[in-house]
Amino acid sequence: MHKGIALYPGSFDPPTNGHLDLIERGAKIFEELVVAILRNSEKSPMFSVAERLEMLRELTADLKNVRIDTFDGLTVEYAKSLDATCILRGIRAISDYEYELQMALMNRKLEPTLETVFMMPADKYSYVSSRLVREVAQAGGPVKGLVPEVVEQKLRQKLDPAYKLHDTSVLDGLTRRAKKRKTKA
Ligand code: PNS
Repeated sequence: MHKGIALYPGSFDPPTNGHLDLIERGAKIFEELVVAILRNSEKSPMFSVAERLEMLRELTADLKNVRIDTFDGLTVEYAKSLDATCILRGIRAISDYEYELQMALMNRKLEPTLETVFMMPADKYSYVSSRLVREVAQAGGPVKGLVPEVVEQKLRQKLDPAYKLHDTSVLDGLTRRAKKRKTKA
């Protein structure tokens, strides 16, 4: 086991079985693994940072050397604040390589003492990405086996209209719109 802290940064929107596979592999190699969600206000995520944090915490509850956190700004700055020695990233296929290489070299330029370590998830997850999971789920397709069960449930809650009616914020919106229509009429 490698002494010290490794940082696994990402969007995790939503966490997939590929992410979880990588976290488990990382936890076996590093003394401590911090999985950190980028709080990126530019993107419009499917799941809020709080929802992703909760899902990841639940999924990793029995991995004692894994901690889930969020961060803003540069990954290297956050890594330094943790005293991390490594950044962990997953590479699924050659198509990931270019982007990951660019990021790793930029991070090295910004902070030469930090090493990026790449790991491969199990080949059965080599085509699984958060973006495709979102796309399939949004179109009503099955995502069983691609994401952990808790994530599958959350996706269903978010996308199933029957669930949405139980969501009070949606009901509040509908009531507000109905009231507006009444006053206009
Ligand atoms: O899961 P993702 O979306 O591929 O993760 C990308 C992430 C969060 C690792 C990357 O966007 C990132 O490090 N963002 C923080 C800003 C930063 O440090 N940029 C310079 C590194 S290229």
